[in-house]
Amino acid sequence: MCGIVGYIGPKEKKEILLDGLQELEYRGYDSAGIAIIQGEKLNSFKAVGKLKNLREKTKDYTSKGFGISIGHTRWATHGKPTELNAHPHLGAYSYVVHNGIIENYQELKKELQQEGVTFLSQTDTETIVHLFEKYHNEGFEPFEAFKKTVNRLEGAYATLLITEAAPDTIFFAKNGSPMLIGFDGEEVYFASSDTPIIGKANEVYYLEDGEYGYVQNGKVHLFDSHGEKVFHTQPLIADKAMAQKEGYRFFMEKEIYEQSRVMGETMMGRVLEEEIVLDELDADFFKGINTIKICACGTSYHSALTAAYLFERLAKIRCDVEIASEFRYKEPLLTKDTLFVTISQSGETADTLEALKMAKRAGLKSLSICNVDNSSIVRESDTAILTRAGIEKGVASTKAFATQTMVLWMLALYVGQVKQTLPKEVLKAEIDAMLHTPKALVVTDELHARLHRLSKRYLHGHGFFFIGRDIFYPLALEGALKLKEISYLHAEGYPAGEMKHGPIALADAELFTIALMPKTMHYDKIKSNVEELSARDATICAISPLPFELADDFVQTHYSSHPMVEFFEMMVVTQLLALEISVRLGNDVDMPRNLAKSVTVE
Ligand code: M6R
Repeated sequence: MCGIVGYIGPKEKKEILLDGLQELEYRGYDSAGIAIIQGEKLNSFKAVGKLKNLREKTKDYTSKGFGISIGHTRWATHGKPTELNAHPHLGAYSYVVHNGIIENYQELKKELQQEGVTFLSQTDTETIVHLFEKYHNEGFEPFEAFKKTVNRLEGAYATLLITEAAPDTIFFAKNGSPMLIGFDGEEVYFASSDTPIIGKANEVYYLEDGEYGYVQNGKVHLFDSHGEKVFHTQPLIADKAMAQKEGYRFFMEKEIYEQSRVMGETMMGRVLEEEIVLDELDADFFKGINTIKICACGTSYHSALTAAYLFERLAKIRCDVEIASEFRYKEPLLTKDTLFVTISQSGETADTLEALKMAKRAGLKSLSICNVDNSSIVRESDTAILTRAGIEKGVASTKAFATQTMVLWMLALYVGQVKQTLPKEVLKAEIDAMLHTPKALVVTDELHARLHRLSKRYLHGHGFFFIGRDIFYPLALEGALKLKEISYLHAEGYPAGEMKHGPIALADAELFTIALMPKTMHYDKIKSNVEELSARDATICAISPLPFELADDFVQTHYSSHPMVEFFEMMVVTQLLALEISVRLGNDVDMPRNLAKSVTVE
């Protein structure tokens, strides 16, 4: 949610900021802005909409020579996406950018307004810059004024501030929202994640919650509640080429095609011929654990729902799944025999992170399944299993879901192994099936062309129902989420057996039913559910290895002997269908409206 960049050094700052923001644009793209102080001169530019508008606006501006600079790409939380609400926010002589939510901003704003400060925007962020200037005007040195400001903030923030009162210094603070510092000799970078600084910085420091400080003359002064601290950087190793589109039209498309390959990476060294090896877990990790509770949001939540079937069926261990934003406020009863698992692609989702912190406060052991090493959720967990999907840039998550589900399947087998609740021959059969999944994920030209053709029939209507049973129910939820995110058409996922308890009232020819009909799981049951819908004239698109005579449209999948292999193949079909519908509707596939890749506000 929102992206921040900063740079202090002699290079062309405008380009560094714009290139960095380009890498972060997926986090929010309602508006963007930059501010630069060079010598005594302060310049700032803002533009509503995508970054290209800001590029256009700044095309004649150059900023070579030593200076300080900050930039921001916004996903609106307080106030509409207008230029006035875009960051950086200006006081009288200082600028601030911020990611997160200042929860006590109304109280602070009232206080400042009573002292005569005029606010230009509707944002919570603007309070930071006015507070800073208030303290500075009272006679505090810039860093003292910044420190006093940060002490007044409640909520989540990653913030950078520059001021004419200290034109060679960038002030920074982090609490709850991600921020890192990159180093290349005396040049210093700031960013919300490492992609903007790959190829620029060679060392990095990931700021912890509660840290703040300033950078001046190439030196970072870092503080926490105990005072100034010594910190250690680490080498920045990342392959930027991985994050490019490599000839595909969209990142989402590339990421769908990549699934077969990355699944191999997810399994590498973990799925052996007759056992699952998870080096991340100590031998006695599951000692005393009788229940698993999983918390996640969105697509990651769907992956968790799938896993609940697997944990109970294969490992014979109780598993509850909760949406993180609900879990946070329900005063949950937590017992120490529960392993608390969080799932997150980004590792920065605010609700999931907070749920994890709650579980830790209650003394629970925690495990995260995440795609981003060093992310907040990974760092906060006792232990983490990385999904190894590689950078996912499409806002609509695809390969992250596939690899999360694979890791959870492995984990279910692993628990069955260590608790000896899984017979050896079942374990062997599961592993065999696992090894077949990369093949099930291959996108053939024929399949893609078929879905491209089909998609033209699904651009209207009054809604979609994705239906399935058992693990195909969470897949139905995920298929519906994918479609609505990028097509803006209404879609719901439903357990097939539940349709006649209400939703079937909607059935008519304009109601599109995407029926997940695996051969290996309750085929006859779902078949009768679909027949009931067909009898009421609903339009049926069946996805199944078995021909189905009542289907208006039919996507034939391969015969397989294992439900999870069918699951992954059907997952690809639903992803491609959503993609093709979105393309035909002319939508922005990778940056759908109103969404952001990383939801770092609650
Ligand atoms: O990074 P996370 O997995 O924690 O993100 C959770 C959701 O915000 C995310 O899955 C969202 O639903 C995606 N846009 C789905 O495609």
